[in-house]
Formats: sequence, structure tokens, C-alpha cells
Amino acid sequence: MLELLARKTLQKLPAEVAHDLAITALGSPLSLLTKVKAIKNPIELMGITFPNPVGLAAGFDKNGDALHGLSKQGFGFLEIGTITPKPQAGNDKPRLFRLKADTAIINRMGFNNKGIDHLVNQVKNSSYKGVLGINIGKNKVTPNENALDDYVHCFEKAHSLCDYITVNISSPNTPDLRELQNDEALTDLLNGMKQAQLKAQKESDKYTPILVKISPDQSEEQLQFMTEQIIASGMDGIICTNTTISRENLNSDDTLVNEQGGLSGAPLIEKANETLRLVRQFSGSTFPIIAVGGIISAKDAVKKIQLGANLVQIYTGFVYKGNGLIKDINNALK
Ligand SMILES: Cc1cc2nc3c(=O)[nH]c(=O)nc-3n(C[C@H](O)[C@H](O)[C@H](O)COP(=O)(O)O)c2cc1C
Repeated sequence: MLELLARKTLQKLPAEVAHDLAITALGSPLSLLTKVKAIKNPIELMGITFPNPVGLAAGFDKNGDALHGLSKQGFGFLEIGTITPKPQAGNDKPRLFRLKADTAIINRMGFNNKGIDHLVNQVKNSSYKGVLGINIGKNKVTPNENALDDYVHCFEKAHSLCDYITVNISSPNTPDLRELQNDEALTDLLNGMKQAQLKAQKESDKYTPILVKISPDQSEEQLQFMTEQIIASGMDGIICTNTTISRENLNSDDTLVNEQGGLSGAPLIEKANETLRLVRQFSGSTFPIIAVGGIISAKDAVKKIQLGANLVQIYTGFVYKGNGLIKDINNALK
């Protein structure tokens, strides 16, 4: 009830103001007001026991500022980030738009974040004991030729504090980031990450799985290449998918649909599901896949599992439907 009231109130505010308020509230004792019990439906994947298969997708808590409250919403795991080596402001505001009639969001945040050192402190000072993923990226000013340095820097600082790392090369809001999904740029990046992972394992005796988060806007041929490279380089899993630059499947006649950025929520599900289907086909039946993109009902999540996902994540559905959606999905998947 209180959660519903808070959500309805936030939905009346400008999108980014509402988001920042939600993060502040979730990081404070106020978050106890929306506390729910997580449903137990444990899944083993990549050597990790996930208490249930429904996770929070990256970008909601970019800095790890709201772990306290987020840990009480019923999620089986949380992914924080995308975080970059140095803090950066992101794109000019406004950069976050709600398309209510479509249960969708367009964002061009541009990796606004407080930098890896801040996130590391937040995680160290947090009482969160659940499964944690840290999603890493490169600073806007870092050219793609030096991107590996940024990813390795973040990996080295974060790997000992989390259960898995996500390499995000699929945000549409950092110029040329998606180029890292192609040809030698991809091969070099993944091989470099593998080396960093093995070096860290030797030094710390902890193996931290690395997942690669991909875009829903790739051709079938590109997807086959990427999946093969991700597996050949020894990465541990794929997250399908980030937001889309397409504007297909939109019903609203709102002028906001013309805003630049990545589209998420209901209109994304077809593209995300087709990407998931192909990645499962190219990867074989056992390679770990986390599916995200367009889940706004339990039925959507069930479909992702039927298409071969091991776990699911939500972002836009959580914004519109709140923590009731986590419960509904878990009940449907149990
Ligand atoms: C406002 C906003 C910010 C996001 N920021 C990130 C991010 O920093 N890193 C990332 O990997 N994905 C980011 N995403 C993408 C989500 O993690 C997710 O992949 C995408 O929204 C599709 O899922 P959904 O339809 O459930 O929202 C962001 C999405 C939104 C709406």
C-alpha cells in the first residue's frame, strides 16, 4: 500500500527527479516502509547460488547508493553500475523520459556516475549480503583503442567485492561504445578481460565470472560472431539485452518518442526476445544467459525462460509496477 502510494507520487514528478528521490529513499531507513520478503526459489549458475531468478538490471542504482533498500524488495540479485573509472556527469538534462502509454522509458543518461572508488566504498560499507553484480564501462573521454584499460581498472577494483562482473559494451548513449561489439575490437577486449580475470584469480584465489551485456540491435550474423567470440574467449555468460535505438512497436503519439536514446520496457520485448532466441541457439543449451528487456508481467518473464534464459532482470517494469512484479514473476516461475 505504502509502496503503491510512493510509486504513484513519484510518477507525477519529472522522471529524473523521481528517480533520484527513489534512490535517496531506498538508501535511507525510509526504505523499510516498502520491505517485502524475498521468495525462495534457488538457482545455481556460474557457481553462484541465486536465492531466486529475478534480478534488478543495471542502471537503476549506478553508484551502489541504494543497496540497503533494494535488498528488501524481493530481488534474487542486484546489479549495480554502470560504473566508470572516473566520475562523469553524463549527458545534458533532460535525458530521461517516461512513455506511460507504452509502459516504456527513453533514456540518454550517458553513464552519469560517481566513479569506481565511490562505488567500492558504498559496497564495502553496505550490509547487503545477497548476490551482487557490478556492471562496468569506459569513460566517455577514453577512446575505444584504450577502452580495455578502463574495463580492467574497474574489474581490478571491483572483482573481490561482488559475485560477478558485467562488461557493458551495448549502451547506445556513449558515442561509439557499441563499436566494441565488432571484429577485433571485441576479440581484443574479451581476451584482455580474460587475462585480467585469471591474474586476479591467481592473486586473490577468487574466480569472479564475467558476463557480457549485448545490444538488441545486432544482425543475426553479428550475434553469431559475438556469441562465438564470447564463448571462445572464456567469458562466463551473456546478458541479453540493453535498450534499443529502434522506435518500433510504440503506440503513444507522444512527441517524446522522438527523443534520442535507448528505449526500454514493453516495446523492447520483441527485439530482446529474438536476440535471446538466437544467442541461445548459437551458444548451445548450457551457456549462462541472463535475459532482460521488456518484462512488465510474469508472463513476459516466463517467455524468456522458455526461450532459454537461466535468470531474468527487470528495470522499466520495476519502475512502473514496483516490487509486486518481482513477487508475481517468482510465483509464476516457481
Ligand atoms: C534510465 C535507464 C538507465 C540505464 N542505465 C544502464 C546502465 O548504466 N548500464 C546498463 O548496462 N544498462 C542500463 N540500462 C538498461 C537496463 O539495464 C536494461 O537492460 C534495459 O532497460 C532493458 O530492460 P527493461 O525493459 O526491463 O528496462 C538502463 C536503462 C534505463 C531505463
